[in-house]
Amino acid sequence: PTSPAEAAAHARPVIVAHRGASAYAPENTLPAIDRAAALGIPWVENDVQRTKDGRLVVLHDDSLARTTDVEQVFPGRAPWKVKDFTAAEIARLDAGSWFSPRYRGTRVPTLAQYMRRVEHNHEKLLLEVKNPQLYPGIERQILRLLANEGWLDRRHLADRLIVQSFSADSVRIVHALDPAVPTALLGRPAAADLRRYATFVDMVNPPWGTLSADYVGTVHSVLGAHHRPLRVFAWTVDRAADARKVAGYGVDGIITNRPDVVRDALNSV
Ligand code: G3P
Ligand code: CA
Repeated sequence: PTSPAEAAAHARPVIVAHRGASAYAPENTLPAIDRAAALGIPWVENDVQRTKDGRLVVLHDDSLARTTDVEQVFPGRAPWKVKDFTAAEIARLDAGSWFSPRYRGTRVPTLAQYMRRVEHNHEKLLLEVKNPQLYPGIERQILRLLANEGWLDRRHLADRLIVQSFSADSVRIVHALDPAVPTALLGRPAAADLRRYATFVDMVNPPWGTLSADYVGTVHSVLGAHHRPLRVFAWTVDRAADARKVAGYGVDGIITNRPDVVRDALNSV
C-alpha cells in the first residue's frame, strides 16, 4: 500500500462481537461480553436506551418483551417499552432464560455496569445509540456517563471506543458535544453523500449484503471527521464464506454474532 486509503484497504479486518458473542450467550448481557473476551475477540457492540427514570441501560429492542420475562413479571403493562419502566423494575427482570435455562438470573445491564465489565475484560466498545428519537438528550447523557467511567481519556479515544447510530442527527450531536469521540453512521449512504457525513463521522457501517469492493474503496477515499480515511465495519456476518467475501472487499471490521467463526475464516485466508 502506498496511500493511507490503500493501507486501510489491505489491513485485516478487526472482529466485533455483535451484542456480545450473542450466538452463544444472551445478547447485550455481561455473559455475552465475557464470552467475547474468552474467545479473544477485541471488540464488543451494544445498544443503549433509557428507562422511565432516566437511567441508561443496554438492550436492543425498544420493548423488553423479546429478551426478558417482563410479560410474566409485569402483565398488563404491554407493550413493555423500555421507556415506560424504571431502572429498579428492569433490574428485577430475567434477561437470560429466554436464551437458555443456563443463563437464568442474568440481568439487563445498566450502561455503567456494562462499561465496568468491558473495562475489566480489556475490551473495546462499539456503542450504538438505539432509537434516539425516543430519548431526547440521550447523547449528552451517554457522554457524561462515559466521562464518569473514565472512557473519554486519550487512551480510550485512541482505539477503544466508537459511538454509532442509524440516526445521522444523533451522531452529529455526539460529534458536536465532543469532537474527540470517534463516530460511525450505520447504514449505506450513497457515495454522493459521504463527504457531507464525513464532517462528523469517522466511519460508515453498512449491512454487509449491500457492499462491494468498489463501494468500500469509495468510502476509503473520503477523509472523515479526524482527517483520516473513513473506515467501514460490516454487519452482521455469521458465515465463514461471507466473512471471507467481505474481507476481500477491504472492510476494516466485521460485526458478527459468531466471532469465532469469523476469526477462523479470516485465519484460513
Ligand atoms: O452494529 C450493527 C448492528 O448492530 C445494527 O443493527 O439492529 O443489530 O442494532 P442492530
Ligand atoms: Ca446494534
